[in-house]
Amino acid sequence: MKIILRLIFSLIVIICLVASMFSFLQARQEEGRLKNELERRANIIAESLKISLEPLLSKEGSAAQLERIVNKFSNRERLVGIDIHDVRENFLVASEGLRLRLEENPKLLARHIQEVERLGVEYGDFLFLGKNQLHAYSVALMVNNQPTHVLTLFHNADYIQERVHRIWVNTFWRLLVQSFLIVLVTIFIVYLNVIRPIKRTTAWIRKIRQGESVDSFDFEGEQLLGPLASEITRMAQSLQIARLSAEEEARLRHTVESLWTPERLKEFIKIELEGRPLFVVSNREPYMHIKKGKEIECIIPASGLVTALEPILNACGGTWIAQGSGDADRETVDDRDQVRVPPEEPQYILRRVWIDKEQERGFYSGFSNEGLWPLCHNAHTRPVFRYEDWSAYLAVNHKFAEAVLQELEGVIEPCVLIQDYHFALLPELIKTKRPDARVAIFWHIPWPNPEAFGICPWQKTLLQGMLGADIIGFHTQFHCNNFIETVDRFLESRIDYEHFTVNREGHKTWIKPFPISIDFYSSEKLQKKAGTIDKKDFLKKQGIAAEYIGVGVDRLDYTKGIVERFRAVEYFLENNPEYQGKFTFVELGAPSRTMIAKYKEFVDELMREADRINARFKNKTWQPIVFLMKHHSHAEILPFYKIADLCLVTSLHDGMNLVAKEFVSSRDDEKGVLILSQFTGAAREMRDALIVNPYDIGKTAEAISFALEMPISEQQERMRRMRHIIKDNNIYRWASQLVKDLAKIRLEKK
Ligand code: G6P
Repeated sequence: MKIILRLIFSLIVIICLVASMFSFLQARQEEGRLKNELERRANIIAESLKISLEPLLSKEGSAAQLERIVNKFSNRERLVGIDIHDVRENFLVASEGLRLRLEENPKLLARHIQEVERLGVEYGDFLFLGKNQLHAYSVALMVNNQPTHVLTLFHNADYIQERVHRIWVNTFWRLLVQSFLIVLVTIFIVYLNVIRPIKRTTAWIRKIRQGESVDSFDFEGEQLLGPLASEITRMAQSLQIARLSAEEEARLRHTVESLWTPERLKEFIKIELEGRPLFVVSNREPYMHIKKGKEIECIIPASGLVTALEPILNACGGTWIAQGSGDADRETVDDRDQVRVPPEEPQYILRRVWIDKEQERGFYSGFSNEGLWPLCHNAHTRPVFRYEDWSAYLAVNHKFAEAVLQELEGVIEPCVLIQDYHFALLPELIKTKRPDARVAIFWHIPWPNPEAFGICPWQKTLLQGMLGADIIGFHTQFHCNNFIETVDRFLESRIDYEHFTVNREGHKTWIKPFPISIDFYSSEKLQKKAGTIDKKDFLKKQGIAAEYIGVGVDRLDYTKGIVERFRAVEYFLENNPEYQGKFTFVELGAPSRTMIAKYKEFVDELMREADRINARFKNKTWQPIVFLMKHHSHAEILPFYKIADLCLVTSLHDGMNLVAKEFVSSRDDEKGVLILSQFTGAAREMRDALIVNPYDIGKTAEAISFALEMPISEQQERMRRMRHIIKDNNIYRWASQLVKDLAKIRLEKK
């Protein structure tokens, strides 16, 4: 309140000062103008009187005539009277009424007469006669070119002071009204823009402090507090998360089984790595800056690898080295090519490595995705191996090795986690230069059997590069077996089948399964925050008219079995006509690797299939397949998961598939059914899903029907068990096991 009073007071003082200054100037100007005008007027009358009076002065006995003229002129506006004295100050004639008043003030005109005689011209002055202010204007009357008499005109000058007074009075009233308006407007603006938002913010913060679950703060329209409110929103979210974590930790302390949480992993890694930072290397970056018109937007790319690894770095900090592939990536890094992420609350460093277009074509599109990807996935797409792609793969692996070594400078016994098939050569390149580093490579995709792998012209170099690592991780034991058999087939080495290690040239590598997972922990909190979603309302907003919803979320990749999925939907509708008009399958497909011909053909095929099936069944208000082809953020995907009756994951071959796990984690209502391909790593853990062979269209269609008919109680039982497994085997447990094993490694002395 004090602040408002001070503000109002200051505003009023300033306005009073400014207004008084202007009024003062205006009053002075007006006074001066009126006085000049009066003087001019007196001068004109005096001049014309002079002409009539001067001839009479030399005549004898002209007194009566003089008096007549004087009285005649005396009734002009504001003229109080006219007087004639001779230069020796003797009275000659004056208008009626004036003579008496002059006699009472005999010295009144002395100064005028003296000045006129001295200057020989006119003299004007303001003087007081009784209570009145008068303007006295005197001129010399000449006889024979000699000033003999002085003619004085008296004008009433009171009106000048009145005018000045009126100016000040007006100023006063104006100021009063202005001040009143200022007070009103200030109070109104301050209340609307400061007091009310502060009151709302305070109430909101109080609720948070008291631990009530509150919505995020709506600061729309509250421009002044907007930035502050968004910061507080974040702080509140962190506080809420911290509170939930603390509650969870406390709860866990009372349970036998101990869950892995971000905080626990953070502490664990600190102890295991003795405070040394973690280094992660991957081709795909966790945050990509892209241009959207004039703005720069930061998106999280669609990648299972990113989904899994990001929460770990977010919890533990460290450095993530990845290719800068967004078109605004260069604009957002510092001179060491680093940027701190996540943008809204930085926790770790993202170091970007730049690769030119030519190299990227060979390394990424070519050898990685046209060679290794189909080689490792049993999806019946023939791998393509080109020499130029291989050289680019070598060059980029060397380039990344340089960047990683640069980041490792000064860190003793650093811990490096290399990700995926893009960097098979990196472990050896790093280990050669930094034998003190503990290096693991995690292969996020399947590993084929030796026959399949054997078609790669550079199989030995790839295996040798990978075996530079201390640990090679896969999602499943099956892939570890395939790898060991491949090494056995193609390289000279000593394999210990009991411990699953490969000894080669004095270096030991452990081959181990680490089934990757998701951040169930944060996801659970997000679910709580998102609350329940009204299915009808949500679908209406999406323009979807259906009673039952199936959902699929994928990168548009030929390994995901999306065509087979569409055909299963078709088969299901054909055999269950009662669901026509009632069941819609929504596919959220993120375009991926679009520069590769196979991927383009695949998307064309998908669109054709969706159109064909839709044309076959659709009616005016309903269609069986809604194919939403774009990059969807987690926030956009979440409501689809939450309202779906079933989720279809029908990969033809998949290392793990985290969509299956994300769907389950998002169902805190324990409803919904997961239909899962038997060829995914996830199928080994999630036995309560309806496991299908995606090539068997009829059986997948049956699973859809089974899912839609499944009683809620059974849905809940299955979902509860799957949620329990993912909650327990979450991404923090995955990271803890990998780091624990890596920390255990005894480094060889070179
Ligand atoms: C798979 C790979 C990841 C890759 C992701 C997305 O999950 O294992 O390494 O990041 O696909 O593919 P992209 O080519 O877009 O990185």
